[in-house]
Amino acid sequence: MDKKVLIENILSLKERYNAVILAHLYQNSDVQDIADFVGDSLELSRKAQAAEGDVIVFCGVRFMAETAKILNPGKTVLLPDADAGCPMADMISAEDLVNLKDAHPNAAVICYVNSGAEIKALSDISCTSSNAVKVAASIEEKEIIFVPDKNLGRYVSTFFPDKRFILFEGFCPTHNKIKLSDLESVRAVRPNTPILVHPECLPEVVQKADFVGSTAQIINYVAKSDKEEFVIGTESGVIHSLSKLCPTKKFYSLGNAMICPNMKKTTLESVYHALDKMQYKIELDADIAKKASVSLNRMLSL
Ligand code: 13P
Ligand code: SF4
Repeated sequence: MDKKVLIENILSLKERYNAVILAHLYQNSDVQDIADFVGDSLELSRKAQAAEGDVIVFCGVRFMAETAKILNPGKTVLLPDADAGCPMADMISAEDLVNLKDAHPNAAVICYVNSGAEIKALSDISCTSSNAVKVAASIEEKEIIFVPDKNLGRYVSTFFPDKRFILFEGFCPTHNKIKLSDLESVRAVRPNTPILVHPECLPEVVQKADFVGSTAQIINYVAKSDKEEFVIGTESGVIHSLSKLCPTKKFYSLGNAMICPNMKKTTLESVYHALDKMQYKIELDADIAKKASVSLNRMLSL
């Protein structure tokens, strides 16, 4: 189908089914452009919770669509590509977390929202990359089990030297592959260009960066800065939103193209088919969803 026709069809189906389209900042440019709202994980959770209408088409990865369903269970939540998962979220099983809790019975559990519903159900509180430090600050316990991202966990732990963090060995393949040597090479060529990275990057990369933040925090940093050039250390989809927001500024990717293959699975075609066939519906075990909502709502209430 011709792109223009595809977009027209999506918009008319959206109206027919009273749907809202939410897209993560890592999505393909075309998908970002037809969304009602584009944002980071935290912003999308809030939008999903407040969504009116009947259907939420979630252009992102599975854990994000699950989060939308948990926070707004009355809606039909669609993930346009059934295989759009997050390898980091899949690295930890419920059994792994139960074992960690058994080994550290006095510890509070923070789960990064990049995790399955079962992991959230077993955790005291969730966090995203933009509020992880704030979430950890709200914990009274001296010991914190942080799952599944070891890099984000280590970054957060640097703000709380008095607490003991027990980290799980999960990581994001897209962010974890950026090496300190990548940062040093770009620094050598562009010594005055700020390097902005996501906290899912390796600790040595995070330590040498000029700014560390979630995708939306990186965008806010660029929008407020009087600099004209930036090196972006997160998934390349962000550069589309950055270029729209700040068309005169220049962006360079840190390392070779940082692409999350799962985020790129959603296309205009899959969004069209999602609405046309009402696929793929997120269905969750009611008991797990209820428990997971406690951990998510605790985060959102902070
Ligand atoms: P944000 O919390 O910045 O949206 O990041 C989500 C994510 O999947 C990062 O890889
Ligand atoms: Fe998961 Fe990394 Fe992709 Fe984010 S960028 S969805 S953490 S694999």
